[in-house]
Amino acid sequence: MSGNRYKTQIWTLDFGSQYTQLITRKTRELGFSTKIFTLDDIKTKFNKNIYPRALVLSGGPQSIQADRIDYAFIFKNKKLPVLGICYGMHVLAKCFKSTIKTGKIGEYGHAVVEVTNSYSIRNCPAKTNVWMSHGDYLGNIPTDFNMVMKSDNGYIAGIRHKKRPLLAFQFHPEVKHTEHGKDLLYHFYKDIAGLKEDWSSAEMLKKTMDLVKSVGDAKVLCAFSGGVDSLVAATLASKVIDKNLFCFFVDNGLLRPQDYHHINTLKKETNLNINIIDAKLEFLTKLKGISDPEKKRKIIGNTFIEVFEKKVRQYEKQHKIHFKYLLQGTLYPDVIESFSPHKKGGKSETIKSHHNVGGLPDRMKLKLLEPLRYLFKDEVRKLGVELKLKNEWIYRHPFPGPGIAIRVLNELNTSSIKKVQQSDQILFEELHSSKLYQSVWQAFTVYLPVLTVGVKGDARVYEGVICLRIVESQDGMTASWSDLPNIFLSKVSSRITNEVKGITRVVYDITSKPPGTIEWE
Ligand code: XMP
Repeated sequence: MSGNRYKTQIWTLDFGSQYTQLITRKTRELGFSTKIFTLDDIKTKFNKNIYPRALVLSGGPQSIQADRIDYAFIFKNKKLPVLGICYGMHVLAKCFKSTIKTGKIGEYGHAVVEVTNSYSIRNCPAKTNVWMSHGDYLGNIPTDFNMVMKSDNGYIAGIRHKKRPLLAFQFHPEVKHTEHGKDLLYHFYKDIAGLKEDWSSAEMLKKTMDLVKSVGDAKVLCAFSGGVDSLVAATLASKVIDKNLFCFFVDNGLLRPQDYHHINTLKKETNLNINIIDAKLEFLTKLKGISDPEKKRKIIGNTFIEVFEKKVRQYEKQHKIHFKYLLQGTLYPDVIESFSPHKKGGKSETIKSHHNVGGLPDRMKLKLLEPLRYLFKDEVRKLGVELKLKNEWIYRHPFPGPGIAIRVLNELNTSSIKKVQQSDQILFEELHSSKLYQSVWQAFTVYLPVLTVGVKGDARVYEGVICLRIVESQDGMTASWSDLPNIFLSKVSSRITNEVKGITRVVYDITSKPPGTIEWE
């Protein structure tokens, strides 16, 4: 390989598979630095003779039969280690004269593969369970390759070049259903590519801090929410730029008692310069009479921008300073756009507006500073640990930007907001005292503005309903309702009906996502 400098050892060429991000995550979990690139990116870099230490070709939804792209440039550098996965294997095999065929039946889901006698992969048994997802298959072993794995359906499942550092799998080693997936990836990185581990929490911290250093003496503004992303971003930035970081927290009146408590704790227990903007009245006035959830979101987003910009301008005038950068806790999944190399002009690195901030207007002329833009949520949490932030701050449940506004169905008023605040606080206290808080993804209460009959004392009453929504999830994209102990649910219910005025009934939402969403609006 030429002596070109590189910072990230492993590049993944994204062919559009739903699992590409998983390759990156698993690779980093194994301790190797890696990033995702588009075909155009890779082509440009290879043309300039810039190579990574190893390249992974991801899977993809398309069939190689319909693909007219010439991928020979990928294999021009004979020393470059390449791992092809599923579609990536077909790309590799086609370049080495294998005929790719479309099977009468595909292999989707669980399969067993056998490692051939002459090959061995440490920690991986001769027969192992893997996850397949393909319709096309290799009709013959490519020139100068050996078959190293075969599926129980008779397909070629793994190939290895006789001399060059090239390996390919028909299945997906990156998904958790592939039992020894990590061992297989490690085999490529370590035994074939000869890489050394270079990715750890300490390394992550160093890299993110280096990014912050680039701002020099400029003043940096942060729209601080107190959530793990903005907290980690602000904490690491403040370690680099110290007093040049100014955090502004907008109190929109739609927060829960735990959020107020959290922000006050952070003010007291961290070195962050947090300014609280009290904008309760502005938000509530603008939301008056609004029942449509999307209108609520729009109003909240726009009001946030108005309030934030006004306050920042005032602050600049008052303190005779000028903000040049906006620090945001944008994460890698927000940056990577699902990408197909066959779509013209596809580019993965498109910045999506941070949905909690809603995107600040161009007229503010702020440059973006996004030190977490190459990290996944679990890595941000690891950084939080490295920064010695408290566990309870790092493992808070997600809380949506529009807050309680989307947890009071239909129109908001101060009394319904209070009902959600009080009931949510009870749920929060009980989750903590039962040590259940960290075992669920998200838990909250929703006010349903329907009156149902009840008896309080000797009188019949018609009062509102509180719904408990408690779900388990990996990423919020799908979710299942949490099957919590009856004794816990019963305690929460009785506390809410006893302590929250105007509530006589508590219901538990047993809907999964899909078809239901996590929030009610
Ligand atoms: P849904 O309701 O879509 O929620 O199943 C998935 C995750 O997204 C959060 N959520 C939001 N977060 N602004 C946010 O910042 C929003 O408008 C919003 N809507 C939903 C929700 O709390 C869950 O974690």
